[in-house]
Amino acid sequence: MRKTIVAGNWKMFTDLAEANELITGLKNNFQNKNQIEVVVCPPFTHLSAVSLSLQGSSIQLGAQNVYPEEKGAYTGEISPAMLKSVGCQYVIVGHSERREYFHESNAFLNKKLQFALQNGLTPIYCVGEKLEERESDQTFKVIEAQLKEGLSGFSAAQLKNIVIAYEPVWAIGTGKTASPEQAQEVHAFIRQELAKLSDAATADAITIQYGGSVKPDNVTELMGKPDIDGALVGGASLKADSFLAIVNY
Ligand code: 13P
Repeated sequence: MRKTIVAGNWKMFTDLAEANELITGLKNNFQNKNQIEVVVCPPFTHLSAVSLSLQGSSIQLGAQNVYPEEKGAYTGEISPAMLKSVGCQYVIVGHSERREYFHESNAFLNKKLQFALQNGLTPIYCVGEKLEERESDQTFKVIEAQLKEGLSGFSAAQLKNIVIAYEPVWAIGTGKTASPEQAQEVHAFIRQELAKLSDAATADAITIQYGGSVKPDNVTELMGKPDIDGALVGGASLKADSFLAIVNY
């Protein structure tokens, strides 16, 4: 059975005081009306504090990135075991901002996914096309490569532990959401590709989130689509009110 997962990606926003305030607002008002998994992904520097603050709450903790080595001389990087040790269950891998600004390739992301899984973290693997790719009918081709190369070498059992996030780059932070029909079309395609990489039952069990300008006023319609199993929320996860309105869609 698929799990519905809504995650908040805080990106490089909030200082520690703001993070604490946001978490207090969330945990004091979160009723989990929909019995879904809710995850917050603060910047690395706040993970320990947020983890402590979330004790006793059903809200889960995720990181926004991870380095694909166990340990070593990698100044400035964070290993999967370090994330586990501060209470992370999830980690975002391959966000479009990392692909774009830090030139992370599908092959490098495949390594991150391997290390995350080996260490018991659930990766949220992001895929999605840029505007020019959509406009030149490359959407499916781009996503197919991101899935095939990023997920290469994983067994069906491993794939079941990966969450996919479809985030069309043109919808991120732009206020321009993919229509529920556009999103559903790509989600169905992703599920079909996942079935090719494993089998139909495995593909059917994998959570596929939509991300890109998810807001309280469009979440219900998006979540109503058969292949949309959650959301990866950026801007609207930075205010307790709007994130709570989304998780209680
Ligand atoms: P926005 O919700 O701000 O568009 O960001 C989406 C996103 O990138 C989440 O990872």
